[in-house]
Amino acid sequence: MRWVFLGPPGAGKGTQAKKIAKLRGVPHISTGDLLRTEVGTKTELGVKAKEYMDSGELVPDDLVIEMVVQRLGSLDGYLLDGFPRTLAQAQALHDRTNGDGVERVFDFELDEDRIISRLSGRRTCRSCGAMYHVDFLPSEKEDVCDNCGGELFQRDDDKPATIRHRTQIARRQAGPLLEFYDKLGILETIDASRSPDVVHEELRGYLGDP
Ligand code: AP5
Repeated sequence: MRWVFLGPPGAGKGTQAKKIAKLRGVPHISTGDLLRTEVGTKTELGVKAKEYMDSGELVPDDLVIEMVVQRLGSLDGYLLDGFPRTLAQAQALHDRTNGDGVERVFDFELDEDRIISRLSGRRTCRSCGAMYHVDFLPSEKEDVCDNCGGELFQRDDDKPATIRHRTQIARRQAGPLLEFYDKLGILETIDASRSPDVVHEELRGYLGDP
């Protein structure tokens, strides 16, 4: 399986990718998570990326492409979450995999009001990365992870002004990216406003399992 999840921030790409990748036994490769690890460990890439991420800008293509190429290595299967995000990234992935890097692309669609309400309530576990929402998916004990007891935190870029900026950028980049995959005949659209379980069931349908 070589799938890509695209869509605006807060559309539920990460929530769904974790479950589908686990079900299929392939790595969930989230460029946001990879970059946050680089920032957290203060690598050269992390130091460069931090400024862009904090302000909701995209990290420059050359840095992200290099990071993903290294992570993909010689993997046969993967679920890419948040990459590619520009036409240049899509073209680079296509070229470096001889046109064989992506089987299916899912575009998660969600309106701006829902994006803001999902992201302003998102909480993530510092230890295991599990994701919650203060209203839609609350932890049993406030700010404590149900899975591992770790501390839940709010991402720095989940502040309303930064969310709006990220959303605008995502919308700007989406047109050419979707056109690229549509022409290849591998693009599917997902109505991401529905409950996580309903979206998951729809995605499972594409796995072709009996
Ligand atoms: P990244 O971490 O990829 O953030 P994003 O794309 O903005 O996506 P999010 O993680 O915010 O949202 P999501 O769609 O995964 O939603 P989630 O499942 O968490 O990127 C961060 C930054 O890194 C970028 O701004 C950029 O600077 C940089 N970057 C990353 N990739 C890059 C690239 N390729 N090129 C350049 N720069 C790059 O869900 C959100 C919340 O909603 C959660 O609380 C969840 O519990 C809840 N929720 C999920 N589904 C539902 C549902 N169906 N109903 C109700 N609530 C739901």
